[in-house]
Order: sequence, then structure tokens, then C-alpha cells
Amino acid sequence: MRRGERLAVLLAVTVASPLGAQGGAPPFVVPAWAFPTSPPPPKGSPPAVVDSITRHRVPNSPRRYTRPQVANAFDIPDWFPWQHPPMPAPVQYGVRPEGRACGFCHLPDGQGRPENGTLAGLPVEYAVRQVRAFRDGTRQSANPAAATGPMHTVARGFPSDDDIRAAARYYARLPLTRRNVVREVAQVPTTRIAGLLYAYAGTGTEPLAGRLIEVPESFERHELRDPWVRYTTYVPVGSVARGRRLATRGPAGAATSCAACHGPQLRGVGEVPPIAGRSPSNLLRQLINFRTRTRRDSTAASMYAVVDSLTIDDMVALAAYVGSLSPSRSTRK
Ligand code: HEC
Ligand code: HEC
Repeated sequence: MRRGERLAVLLAVTVASPLGAQGGAPPFVVPAWAFPTSPPPPKGSPPAVVDSITRHRVPNSPRRYTRPQVANAFDIPDWFPWQHPPMPAPVQYGVRPEGRACGFCHLPDGQGRPENGTLAGLPVEYAVRQVRAFRDGTRQSANPAAATGPMHTVARGFPSDDDIRAAARYYARLPLTRRNVVREVAQVPTTRIAGLLYAYAGTGTEPLAGRLIEVPESFERHELRDPWVRYTTYVPVGSVARGRRLATRGPAGAATSCAACHGPQLRGVGEVPPIAGRSPSNLLRQLINFRTRTRRDSTAASMYAVVDSLTIDDMVALAAYVGSLSPSRSTRK
């Protein structure tokens, strides 16, 4: 980073910090609930016992995998090989010891999971730049304990940009299909935090209280890396309409309407990424990351004017609306 840029970043961070004056606006406080994180097991706990015999299945796939096979980050499980082109080596095998295969987390068809995000349909140069940003630390998470950690290790684990580019080219051609449903509720089924995600706790309901909570319909299928598991996102009543208004008018005027840069249906233009139909909890975290300047790679600044006037309720509304849109012509809402 050049000196001037570093200064600009420092200033930006100061302005965004909860202590800084924000033009009279209330300071932005990062809500912990938006970044679910399980604490690591206490030191000295015995290693988890893994069943290496039972062969698991997911609906509509003839394949069977054991737990160790599902957890193999250097030759990943692929439940539906006929649904995508052959994977290039970085996507299927990665590079030992730290460069785990992209498809391990983002899945072979690039639909990704709420905790890591979709890669299907991302512009090649945008994706390559993001991986570089993880590598050089200009893309972090507003909650340092959550989410970006694995991607930093992985980005450093791929020494060659050629591998990253091959992966990005592969994913760029794949269609994104929406696998989430957005529901406006006052009460949400109780949840527990499992890894970097919410899962149903199975014990009644509790007030949603302004949160956005995304839950897989089956945590088991999520864990088995079934790309077809669906996710339900619970948001406060009125969020989708409020998000639509904000998106259309722009939080700070027409120049900040989402369509001005992300295209008329928010399916991306040039190197500006598509956002329609992506995981709402992931979209929300990215808005918070821009707001707190923890995303500050070379092209992140376009988003600052968009997010700076948003409250957390606005962000929840935008994530709900954008996530509820259809990502492509071929899939239904
Ligand atoms: C161990 C899991 C893991 C592996 C393996 C992995 N990623 Fe990621 N990736 C993540 C996580 C977690 C995030 C989300 C970070 C965040 O939300 O800020 C992410 C985010 C990304 C993003 C940003 C997406 C966006 O729209 O902003 C890109 C691009 C990306 N990864 C590319 C790759 C590529 C290419 C590979 C293989 C070379 C790869 N990842 C391998 C976990 C992983
Ligand atoms: C002035 C142009 C501009 C406008 C207006 C704009 N965006 Fe963006 N947006 C971008 C660019 C450029 C990026 C990529 C940033 C980067 O490279 O880090 C981006 C990235 C994002 C991301 C992160 C996507 C990812 O892959 O992680 C989200 C979420 C997002 N925008 C949401 C919105 C929403 C919601 C609106 C409307 C309220 C909006 N944007 C308006 C230019 C814009």
C-alpha cells in the first residue's frame, strides 16, 4: 500500500470507529448476532471421535460418503458431478498443506454456504482481487473472531495466482440458483450456533428482535455439504418492502441505488459482482464489513457512500430484499 492510501485507510477507519464522530449520526455498533461463532474446544479436550464406517447419503444422489470422505479438503466430496463441468485441480484437490480445495467450502457448483458465500457467476477479476485482498489482509471481517479466518489461510496456501485464476474462471461460468427463502416473522424458532452458522435448536420460538437469522432446513445435510439444502432467513416484518425502497431510491440518493452499479436486476455488470439471490446473512455481513472499513481492497471504496448512512435495520432490510430476488433468468423466485 502506498503512503497516501494508508493514510486514507486510517482516516476511514477512524471515521467508522464507534468512538469517531460520524457527522452527528449515532455510532455504528457491530452486532455479534450477525457473526455467529462457536468458541474453539477448550485446550486439552480429547479429539472428536469420527465414524469412518457409516456411508451417508443426501436426497437425489446415488453417491455414498463416509464422514472422513466428506471432511477431505484435498479431494472433495461431489454429490452431483453431472450438474457441473469437470472441476480444475485447485477446486477439487487444492494445494497441500494449507491451500484447501475451493470446492470444499464453496462447493463444486459454487453455490457456497452462508458462512463463506457463493462464487458461481462472480466476475473473474473481482474474484481474483478478493482472494488477493484476503492474502494481503485488506479484506477482513468486522468480527475478527468470525468467518474470514479460513479464507486468509487458504489464500496464502495457494502460492500461484494461476491456480486462483483457474478456479475463478471455472466458477464465473456457473449459474447461481437461489437456495434460500426469506420469511418475515415476529417470532423465530430457537436456534443454536453450530460452527459459523445458526441451526434449529428444536425448542419453541423466541422474539426475532430485529435480527436476521439464516438457518439450513437440515443441519445434517449442510454438514454433509449437500449443495441442494435450502436455507430459511427470518427477518422482521416489513423488511423486504423497506429494503426494496432503499435499494431503488439509494440510501444517499440516486447515485447510490443498488442498480446504478450492480445492474438493473442486481445481477452484476462488468467487474461489479452480482448480488441478487445470494445468502442474506452473507450479504448483511458484507454491508457491515464495508461500513466498518474492514473491507478495504482497491475497489471497496465504491460501497462506502452506499453504506455510511445505513442503520443496522436498513442493512437487514437490504439483505432481505436483495437475497429474495431471483439471481438468474433460468431460476424461479
Ligand atoms: C476452508 C474454507 C474455504 C476454502 C477452502 C476457500 N474459501 Fe473462499 N471463502 C471462505 C470464507 C469463510 C469466505 C467468506 C469471508 C467473509 O465472509 O468475509 C470466503 C470468501 C471468498 C471470496 C469472496 C466472495 C465474495 O463474493 O465476496 C472469494 C472470491 C473466494 N472465497 C474464493 C476462493 C477460492 C478461489 C478458493 C480456492 C482457491 C477458496 N475461496 C477456498 C472460505 C473458504
Ligand atoms: C457506486 C457503485 C455501487 C453502488 C451504488 C452499490 N454498489 Fe455494491 N458494490 C460495488 C462494487 C464496486 C463492489 C465490489 C467491492 C469490492 O471490490 O470490494 C460492490 C460490492 C457489494 C457487495 C459485496 C458482494 C460480495 O461479493 O461480497 C454487496 C453485498 C453490495 N455491494 C451491496 C450493495 C447494495 C445493497 C447496494 C444498494 C443499496 C449497492 N451495493 C450499491 C459498487 C456499488
